[in-house]
Amino acid sequence: YWNRGYEVPDHSMIKTPEQIEGIREAGKKNTMVLDFITPYVKEGVSTGELNRLIEEYTREIGGIPACLGYQGYPKSVCISIDDVVCHGIPSDDQILKSGQILNVDCTTIYNGYFGDASRMFCIGDVSVDLALAATKPCGTMGDMGYVCNKHAVENGYSVVREIGGHGCGVQFHEEPWVNHIGEPDEGILFVPGMTFTIEPMVNMGKEAIYIDDENNWTVYTEDGLPSAQWEIQVLVTEEGTEVI
Ligand code: MF3
Ligand code: CO
Ligand code: CO
Repeated sequence: YWNRGYEVPDHSMIKTPEQIEGIREAGKKNTMVLDFITPYVKEGVSTGELNRLIEEYTREIGGIPACLGYQGYPKSVCISIDDVVCHGIPSDDQILKSGQILNVDCTTIYNGYFGDASRMFCIGDVSVDLALAATKPCGTMGDMGYVCNKHAVENGYSVVREIGGHGCGVQFHEEPWVNHIGEPDEGILFVPGMTFTIEPMVNMGKEAIYIDDENNWTVYTEDGLPSAQWEIQVLVTEEGTEVI
């Protein structure tokens, strides 16, 4: 059973009980930030204002916004509207309008550990429930990616290939890279103690994307059709998973 030739996660990907406790606390703080911002996500507010509110509240609860200054990223949160796939940079000139769909992606550093999750808003709910249900100890990443992509494709949508989820907790982005497209029984094994994100970007049209050549961050759909994303941070346990 243990010798079937899967790629096995390196020790650094398996967190100690102490690290898990720290990551869980960071996840709680990050969830507080997402809960806090939810009532403000309304028609007429600018994404710059949402950024300021998030930065202020994160510090108020003893956290640090992980995005700010991360590899030169200029703001405290990523807000991605309509055809923006991810890494949309908040701005005072960008006012939320009726009919838009947007993703607010927050990462909080608390006590040296990272919590990373995002939510989708409609100016209704998307979910990663199917992908989560396919994430099991001694299952594989391919099992999860297969279910995720299959659901999108069956509904006429596509899943972004180039950008995936990631190990998260001790560092913002750590191993493993999480693919939201896969084949059952393929890919790295899921083992208790792993903490990573599941964050599929689902495009209404084609999967192709491009990166803004001015800011080098913001990712757009090539066909200009809307893209949605939901992100959860998951701990693999002996029994199954815990959304942290
Ligand atoms: N929070 C994003 C993720 O889910 C990463 C954003 S990097 C930033 O992985 F620099 F743009 F903030
Ligand atoms: Co992430
Ligand atoms: Co994120």
